[in-house]
Amino acid sequence: MWSWCKTSTEYSGRAVGNEAETLTARAVRIPLLQEGEKPTPRSSIRGATIRSPGREDSLRRLGLKQIDLYLVHWPEGGPTWAWAGMERAQELGLARSIGVSNYDATELEAVIAAGTVPPAVNQVLFNPEHRRRALLDACGRFDVAVEAYSPLGTGRYVDDTTVVRIARRTGRTPAQVLLRWGLQHGLVVVAKSTHRDRIHENAQIHDFTLSAEDMAELDALDRTGGTDRALETTWW
Ligand SMILES: NC(=O)c1ccc[n+]([C@@H]2O[C@H](COP(=O)([O-])OP(=O)(O)OC[C@H]3O[C@@H](n4cnc5c(N)ncnc54)[C@H](OP(=O)(O)O)[C@@H]3O)[C@@H](O)[C@H]2O)c1
Repeated sequence: MWSWCKTSTEYSGRAVGNEAETLTARAVRIPLLQEGEKPTPRSSIRGATIRSPGREDSLRRLGLKQIDLYLVHWPEGGPTWAWAGMERAQELGLARSIGVSNYDATELEAVIAAGTVPPAVNQVLFNPEHRRRALLDACGRFDVAVEAYSPLGTGRYVDDTTVVRIARRTGRTPAQVLLRWGLQHGLVVVAKSTHRDRIHENAQIHDFTLSAEDMAELDALDRTGGTDRALETTWW
């Protein structure tokens, strides 16, 4: 249940930072791992950091003194039970910001009510097909940034006909359209690519704007019914 979220650590300069900072942070962080060294498995992170946050074992193995953003990966066992440990990790300076992932609106409210530090971020599956409008609204009310994972639908939505049509109309790529849509909804977007040219492409989203018509067409792709839930099915 507890895990260091690799993506967030690599991609997020600040928990609620802007999107440009998230990409810069990735470039800075990756070389800090020793050559040939693999990121630590989640189970080890859990043991070192959550049960004994002061040991800093996971940070040493990551080659970091501090994690930018440390997330509860999902709310198995209840949304609140682990939060005191997260607050402790931040208090010790091991994490600059702490947050949650895959929390629905009710779970988010529960963890805020139980803790002294509210989550900076709720990282959830969010893209035009999963436009969780009520969850986004709830996060806004609680002042929790929504970080969209799988903003490209794990690559599937770059071929969507609506997305492709808007990309042609705007003279941008489908991936840029999807990411820009997220930005214009106030999201922090966490896209992933193993290709340098695509990483560069995905960062070029601050010099154009989608029209209200473009946004409405993309919004209409939603299949969640504007839910306040974080997931359609749980995997724990
Ligand atoms: N918190 C959670 O529970 C949770 C759950 C799922 C995922 N995540 C995280 O969220 C991050 C992103 O999610 P994701 O990997 O599912 O999906 P994504 O970012 O939506 O899509 C990644 C896929 O899109 C392709 N892609 C990237 N840029 C592209 C471009 N410009 N044009 C065409 N294709 C492009 C990539 O292929 P190439 O690599 O070949 O370029 C890859 O297959 C991941 O790092 C993951 O760790 C978090």
